Amino acid sequence: MQIEKAPVTNNLRNSQQQYGWVSIVLHWSLAIALIAMYFAGDYMVDLDYYDTWYHRLPQIHKEVGVVIGALMIFRLLWNALQTSPENVGDDGPKIQFIAKAAHYFLYGLVFMLVISGYLISTAKGQGIDVFGLFELPAFLPDNKDRGELAGDLHEWIGLGFIALVALHALAALLHHFFYKDRTLKRMLTVKKLN
Ligand code: HEM
Repeated sequence: MQIEKAPVTNNLRNSQQQYGWVSIVLHWSLAIALIAMYFAGDYMVDLDYYDTWYHRLPQIHKEVGVVIGALMIFRLLWNALQTSPENVGDDGPKIQFIAKAAHYFLYGLVFMLVISGYLISTAKGQGIDVFGLFELPAFLPDNKDRGELAGDLHEWIGLGFIALVALHALAALLHHFFYKDRTLKRMLTVKKLN
């Protein structure tokens, strides 16, 4: 295995061949947060009223949701300023198109999750307190029906999101263990690994 040192100045930004550290850290921190949010959301809806987490977990879920929304906006802006690394491996144009479409779809689903979560949380006209630092205001007047509709959508979009993430992760593992190309490795390090 040959390890080529990437120039220090290029480590933060993407290049034609590699993801930079900013994209890598955003990808994995958001991946961990989003997967944890799915399971936390699934768990908290079944909590008993007398459980210590009955109020605390939904509050954390909302606060982290706001942070995820902000990081996703930053990620979109960052991507707009970057080149996307070229495809590696032997995928044909159809598979490359499907992979790209899945990435856009994942972004879309995350934004829909953040927006529907916001609409559920503010359905009673109350803003969201974010770690005691600031309050994200309720921009719309209270509306119970809108809150319930947003709740149903949030649940279904969450399911669709986690299913697509599973396929996306499976594709990454397939590239790594079956096709043995650099697809997964270059999302883990900025070093050029062959
Ligand atoms: C364990 C879970 C995950 C694994 C193993 C994984 C793996 C990867 C890999 C290897 C790439 C690079 C693909 C390439 O260069 O062609 C990638 C890119 C990408 N992944 Fe994931 N991923 C995971 C979770 C997620 C999640 C939860 C999201 C949700 C937003 C996500 C969104 C993306 C997007 C949008 C890209 C395109 C590059 C970018 O815009 O940052 N991934 N992923």
